[in-house]
Amino acid sequence: MKKQLQDIFKGFSKLSREDRLKALKDVGVLQESDLEYLAKGGLRDTSLGEKFIENVIGYFQMPLGVATNFRIDGKDYAIPMAVEETSIVAAVCKSAKWIRESGSITTEVIGNEIIGQIQCAKIKDYADFEKKILLQKKYLIEVSNREVAFGLVRRGGGVRDIHVRRVPRGDGTDMAVIHVLMDPCDAMGANIMNQVCEFLKEPIEQITGEKVTMCILSNLVDTKITRAVVHINKIDPDLAEKIEEASLFAKQDPYRAATNNKGVLNGIDPILVATGNDWRAVEAGIHAYACRDGQYRSITRWYRDQGGLTGVFEAPLVVGTVGGVTALHPTAMMCMKMIGANSANELSRVAAAVGLVQNLGALKALTTVGIIEGHMKLHTKNLALGAGAEETEIPMVQKKLEEILSIRKRISLSNAIDVLKELRANKTSASSVHHSS
Ligand code: MEV
Repeated sequence: MKKQLQDIFKGFSKLSREDRLKALKDVGVLQESDLEYLAKGGLRDTSLGEKFIENVIGYFQMPLGVATNFRIDGKDYAIPMAVEETSIVAAVCKSAKWIRESGSITTEVIGNEIIGQIQCAKIKDYADFEKKILLQKKYLIEVSNREVAFGLVRRGGGVRDIHVRRVPRGDGTDMAVIHVLMDPCDAMGANIMNQVCEFLKEPIEQITGEKVTMCILSNLVDTKITRAVVHINKIDPDLAEKIEEASLFAKQDPYRAATNNKGVLNGIDPILVATGNDWRAVEAGIHAYACRDGQYRSITRWYRDQGGLTGVFEAPLVVGTVGGVTALHPTAMMCMKMIGANSANELSRVAAAVGLVQNLGALKALTTVGIIEGHMKLHTKNLALGAGAEETEIPMVQKKLEEILSIRKRISLSNAIDVLKELRANKTSASSVHHSS
């Protein structure tokens, strides 16, 4: 019988890199051509880079890992994560395993439309401006769909609505801002939205007699919200209370909220990077949404629920599965296939789920053993490398650093340097004893 994805999750982290790749190929997540591509070191030909940006001098290589154990809305995933920070992948796999064994992850996307903005900075009469635009709203939607967004319309999307907002200039007068609401289907939609807004400049100036000052999409997409819910059925009541308390801290205090949300983005950004999505846009949207009531707050919340624990992530998380780098960068294309998301909404739901699960792992560690234990344990290898240890010396330096960590509860690069020095001194004296005897 053909192996299923869930069959390879157990012990995955203990496999060698070759065996991990083979396991992923055996379950059809990767193809032979992907293994060859990775064996060659991924993308090397800089001519593609030249097409993306200017002044290219090479590529920046980032580790690409796989998050295992995820079952989201009943579907198993192997989730690619491109990230440099130690313990992110290990922690999220561990928490996903916990949920897989005693809980569930469900997700949804609420709303379809992204937002574009057309600003008229100085207007004579706001009420008159708004009236004129609303009278011509149907025409503006129709002409945008006919002249610019026709491809999206064919795929079931396109411009759906137009709103007018009054924004105070701060000097007693107002600016007018038109919002264009558009369903981008499986695209992230930035390019097409900017084209629609720039196209509408002329008709809007004609209709209102006012000057359009700028046109650009907004990353605060509060019209399309991704929601992920984690429920753990049975949990130590003391731990559940601690996590609920940590959640309250992140809701009420912006200093803690920033770090909490950074931890959520530890789960989201690596997926966006791996799939060639615009992580800056998502970050900007999430942070802006986090302060929608005037105070920066957590974008996740955890509460005790029927003897268990429930966590919710809710924020804009707009991604694309067509267009842009996603469809051009061979590593992004491979990662897209790997994740197996059939739509941009599915990719968004997966990223939200991983962010929430990452948050759970961080809160559990922070409220129990602390962050250092897990983090530094994995960080010992980086410290050994940083101290200049050779490949053969790394395991011994790591072992010694772990001993120091368990006694002193902290380790640093200077510990690693001392350990390495001692190791080499012992080696030299052992070999001189050997030679003289
Ligand atoms: C570190 O990258 C992320 C954490 O600081 C997140 C958090 O504090 O919730 C551990």
